[in-house]
Amino acid sequence: MKIMLIQSSPNKDGLTSACAFAAEEGIRKSGGEVEEIYLNELNIDHCHACNDGWGTCRKEHKCQELDDFQALHLSMAQADGYVIVTPVYWGDLSESAKAFTDRLRRCEAPQDEGKSIMFNKPVIVVAAAGGSGRGTITCLLSLERWIQHVQGRVFDLLPVNRWSREYKITAIYAAGVALVNDLQQNRNTSY
Ligand SMILES: Cc1cc2nc3c(=O)[nH]c(=O)nc-3n(C[C@H](O)[C@H](O)[C@H](O)COP(=O)(O)O)c2cc1C
Repeated sequence: MKIMLIQSSPNKDGLTSACAFAAEEGIRKSGGEVEEIYLNELNIDHCHACNDGWGTCRKEHKCQELDDFQALHLSMAQADGYVIVTPVYWGDLSESAKAFTDRLRRCEAPQDEGKSIMFNKPVIVVAAAGGSGRGTITCLLSLERWIQHVQGRVFDLLPVNRWSREYKITAIYAAGVALVNDLQQNRNTSY
């Protein structure tokens, strides 16, 4: 089982990274393979809403803006499940996560039901609010809607702040274990 672990903080030694590391440990513990993606190290521009609204994304399900998006889009198709760990910025996902998820949605949301590369694949989202601790729910709400648009399956949505860090790290590890176990047990189950 290949799980893509996507994190979108520029800081590799903060709360977001600690959460991502916990998920990685859990996935590996249950025998999953992890592909780590650091969105801030990639060159992924925002959606340009080409041609007054839609570009090749709408009918060809490919983005015409050429950068690191294309390779990541292909990798996403090969994965069995996903963990997205984002810092909370302004009560929402980080800019790098927004740019990537916006463009992926443009390509996959217009697919017929069942045809998206993420169709029925489980997604865990972790929102790490390292400041006031506010804004995790609105961040998770945005990503829950996104999962629905790209035809994925919400596996878990986990808010974390500085005060809940210790016990949420344990929960994130457990979520990683459960994600792989679920995939192994439900290979042919449709939801
Ligand atoms: C532009 C910006 C906006 C932020 N907005 C919030 C916020 O709404 N709520 C919050 O708790 N923390 C907020 N923070 C703090 C981040 O959530 C915190 O830095 C986060 O844990 C990322 O830290 P890390 O990258 O070290 O994990 C914000 C930080 C930045 C840079």
